[in-house]
Amino acid sequence: MARTPRPSDVVSRSGRFTSGPAADVAAFSESISFDWRLWRHDIQGSIAHATMLRSAGILTEAELKAIRDGLQEIGAEIEAGKFTWKPELEDVHMNIEAELTRRVPAGAKLHTGRSRNDQVALDVRLWLRDEIDALAGELRLLQRSLVQLGRRHPAVIIPGYTHLQRAQPVFFAHHLLAYVEMFARDLGRLADGRERTNVCPLGSGAIAGSTLPLDRALVAKQLGFVDSLGKARVTQNSMDGVSDRDFMIEFCSTSALIAVHLSRLSEDIILWVSSEFGFIRIADAYTTGSSLMPQKKNPDVAELTRGKSGRVIGNLMALLTLLKGLPMTYNRDLQEDKERLFDTADTVRRCVRLTAAMLDNTTVREAACAAAAADPLLLATDLADYLVLKGMPFRKAHHVVGAVVGYAESNSKPLNKLTLAEFKSIDTTFTEDVTSVFDLKEAMARRKLPGSPGTREVKRQLDQWTRLLAMK
Ligand code: ARG
Repeated sequence: MARTPRPSDVVSRSGRFTSGPAADVAAFSESISFDWRLWRHDIQGSIAHATMLRSAGILTEAELKAIRDGLQEIGAEIEAGKFTWKPELEDVHMNIEAELTRRVPAGAKLHTGRSRNDQVALDVRLWLRDEIDALAGELRLLQRSLVQLGRRHPAVIIPGYTHLQRAQPVFFAHHLLAYVEMFARDLGRLADGRERTNVCPLGSGAIAGSTLPLDRALVAKQLGFVDSLGKARVTQNSMDGVSDRDFMIEFCSTSALIAVHLSRLSEDIILWVSSEFGFIRIADAYTTGSSLMPQKKNPDVAELTRGKSGRVIGNLMALLTLLKGLPMTYNRDLQEDKERLFDTADTVRRCVRLTAAMLDNTTVREAACAAAAADPLLLATDLADYLVLKGMPFRKAHHVVGAVVGYAESNSKPLNKLTLAEFKSIDTTFTEDVTSVFDLKEAMARRKLPGSPGTREVKRQLDQWTRLLAMK
């Protein structure tokens, strides 16, 4: 005896099954609670597929119109928050298709030559393409914020650190521009990964394509899966097409690296804002207080950004582990990819945006920077270079300056306050002009190599980035 049809029969369980899934199985396997956000791209893909089915003679013009109108109507309802998602219909694909079919009979023809396996691969590629573009836009804004902060304080010099010990003086802007460079490489990685994301898997079917005369190129072109010459880009192996998630992993990998760069920047900010450094101040709106200690003003945006890098790195590990050992081709395990992907995209985008906003609300405490940069020990290497220019082998110069530093230390004198006689007592190569080594302004002007923190070079870099980022 025929049983009463259930909503899920509309799409996937017709015929073969005598019962629906047990309630806990349904709850365990549903993905609508998170994949609903693919709806826009699911509809976009379905309209392209239907348009192709029409040109292949599988749909009539009237059927295509009914499907297209129906999908657009559903899209408008989802957008307006009026669409009811049904968990018993498992995922976004079945929810939309079942509702379409309930409204227009032609909906039952939409899934011709298509499987949810190539459909989900398509949806995620479409979604990720948009996401990559959005993240790239935000990253460029962050670069601007960094350049802008540098331009507001072009003359500020701070100690550069190695081993978190004072090393050599650098312009504050030079330090910030280091991050601009990192994010420029990240943008390159995003663009590179976008190339491999921008390939259409539809037409791969469940695993082995279709016997129907589908036009894959037509679908690809409608959805913008084209190369620079406008030629359609479609996946070349149906088994790979339904099971490949490399493009997601690439995105999560690039995102993990972005998160790591953000985390390092956050760490610098956290140090700089501490009383021990005191180089910067963050506006109240971008800090938080303590519930107990009235004096506290904490850099929580930077701390959370540093902390969130952990989950972004974790998401990458989760995806790699998900794929490892998965036999060809589609396995339901793959449904686990989306939450990691979504979380990575959401988290990184928010961190990038909040970091930019925080930098826009940061001021530099120039006096504190100047005091730290005035440490003459920062110019110990310059002192060795001074001796090298007088003909001393560098290894010897390094040794001599080490002795000078040791002498200054044990006599509790700043390096730049030693007398010429004291310098000469250590090595006779020193002459009167040794005092010029400790003029910080001159020291910065002497750094002329490309990429160095020299006065002219940093200005050149700032100008160049201002131009590249189309800033005023
Ligand atoms: N919700 C599924 C996923 O995210 C869609 C594909 C389902 N395919 C299947 N054969 N059950 O992976």
